[in-house]
Amino acid sequence: MRNDDAPATITAYPNGPLIVRGRVRFVDEHGASVEQPRATAALCRCGMSAIKPWCDGTHKLSGFTTETPDREPAGSDEAHDECGGCEADSPDA
Ligand code: FES
Repeated sequence: MRNDDAPATITAYPNGPLIVRGRVRFVDEHGASVEQPRATAALCRCGMSAIKPWCDGTHKLSGFTTETPDREPAGSDEAHDECGGCEADSPDA
């Protein structure tokens, strides 16, 4: 049994959702509270769920993987060929 005073935890599951355990207030993009269906929530991180923000298991069918391809180290010139550089997205740019 979980202690309600314990801090919430978020656990990233390999090739799957983020599992949230503990009391957390979920809000949507407008700041409205989103009712949590269960004490333990699974948040979609594959982008394929039909019930976002919750995981519906579609990640298993879609072949979603949490493995990252080999990349150039951050800060190298090659790392910014596609994005144009981190400064382009900065609100101060
Ligand atoms: S992580 Fe499960 S449906 Fe997206």
